[in-house]
Amino acid sequence: MSAWQSCVQYLFYYETPKTLVIPNITAGCVFRFTQLLVVLYVLGYVCLVQKAYQDTDSVVSTVTTKVKGFAFTNASSIKYFDVADYVIPPQGGSSFFVLTNMIVTPHQTRSRCPTFPNPSSVCVDDCDCIEGLNDPRGSGIQTGLCENFSTTVKTCEVISWCPLEIDAGLPEHALLDSAENFTVLIKNSITYPKFKIHRRNIAPHINSSYLRSCEFNRSTDPDCPIFRLKDIVSEAGEDFQDMAVKGGILGIIIDWSCNLDWWAGKCSPKYSFRRLDSKSPNNDAAPGYNFRFAKYYMDQSGEEFRTLFKAYGIRFEVIVYGTAGRFGMVPTIVNLGAALSFLSLVPVVADWFLLTCLRKRDLYSRHKVSYLREDADTEGETMHTSYGTK
Ligand SMILES: *[C@@H]1O[C@H](CO)[C@@H](O)[C@H](O)[C@H]1NC(C)=O
Ligand SMILES: *[C@@H]1O[C@H](CO)[C@@H](O)[C@H](O)[C@H]1NC(C)=O
Ligand SMILES: *[C@@H]1O[C@H](CO)[C@@H](O)[C@H](O)[C@H]1NC(C)=O
Ligand SMILES: *[C@@H]1O[C@H](CO)[C@@H](O)[C@H](O)[C@H]1NC(C)=O
Ligand SMILES: *[C@@H]1O[C@H](CO)[C@@H](O)[C@H](O)[C@H]1NC(C)=O
Repeated sequence: MSAWQSCVQYLFYYETPKTLVIPNITAGCVFRFTQLLVVLYVLGYVCLVQKAYQDTDSVVSTVTTKVKGFAFTNASSIKYFDVADYVIPPQGGSSFFVLTNMIVTPHQTRSRCPTFPNPSSVCVDDCDCIEGLNDPRGSGIQTGLCENFSTTVKTCEVISWCPLEIDAGLPEHALLDSAENFTVLIKNSITYPKFKIHRRNIAPHINSSYLRSCEFNRSTDPDCPIFRLKDIVSEAGEDFQDMAVKGGILGIIIDWSCNLDWWAGKCSPKYSFRRLDSKSPNNDAAPGYNFRFAKYYMDQSGEEFRTLFKAYGIRFEVIVYGTAGRFGMVPTIVNLGAALSFLSLVPVVADWFLLTCLRKRDLYSRHKVSYLREDADTEGETMHTSYGTK
């Protein structure tokens, strides 16, 4: 018989498993133990931990916020601040900014003034200045004139909003330090569309008289949706007055993960707080958070002037996430089937153990695979093993 023939023949041989009962305690234990592992994996991890029997849906949510509080400060001519002054923009969405520190430059007009001295702007006479030079990092468009900046220094003159802002004068102690006592009301409505579940973070048992007086406290008032800014910042592991000087970004994280099975508890939000901008001591270039805005006025002659604010403060971001799960027939069947298919690996493990670790492995391997020769009728006589005996 040529190799080709036997190959073709082998292709059309029928293989059928034959049950070989091995009365060996060790092999039996390994088999049952492996089975037990698979069953524990299915029950413990797949069912209890992963909750693979559940249908899941992700949260759809909307957030509004309202900050309250008053502050007194010595900045510029503005001494009293209320919410319309320090919350920017005033809209109250899921991200809001509370002003805590600032550099105010009052009464700027569109005019000309000598720019701040630096190596490229110090000049001796007009020849050192280039008319129309527009340096994006400078403070305006140069006029080509060299003017007295002070009694000792001359610098190039620019067209700009003058007087120029003196950027270096950031107060060491935040001007609106009383912002730590401001409160924010967070209203959050969520939906799990697949399960038609609607919830608010203001639970049904909260009445408006409670809402008027309460303040979130993890141990005493965990359901109150009104947070003191200082508490938020300190739960995030930061010091409010520290953060207020140069600003920062803080996350208010609302976790709406729910188990909607009938035996599970209620579905309520869990709050946590985290600083989102990095504040690492070995990377302190450009720290904090700031931006500029201006308020515009017109004097009696109709000339426009403005007050420029460089605003430092804390931006709060409300981040809502969550997944809801509820028992579902389809995921149960699919996941149970997938998990139980691991049972088919059990004989592989047991066979491997049988054929490599046990003392009588040669005997087992001789009986494990056998060819039936159809012309022979006495059983056992024609068997030969395909495993090499060791
Ligand atoms: C504000 O100014 C008043 C009087 O000018 C002073 O007594 C007070 O300490 C100042 N407050 C701050 C926070 O600088
Ligand atoms: C600029 O300063 C010089 C010397 O300090 C002085 O003589 C001159 O009058 C000043 N020019 C103007 C326009 O103030
Ligand atoms: C915030 O409120 C507390 C108690 O009401 C008060 O002791 C504290 O001085 C206030 N903080 C500021 C910066 O005003
Ligand atoms: C509001 O709720 C608080 C506690 O949750 C309760 O003590 C108070 O009596 C309630 N007020 C009204 C008017 O229902
Ligand atoms: C929460 O309330 C307890 C008891 O009244 C109080 O000791 C604790 O300081 C409060 N926590 C905060 C963050 O205000």
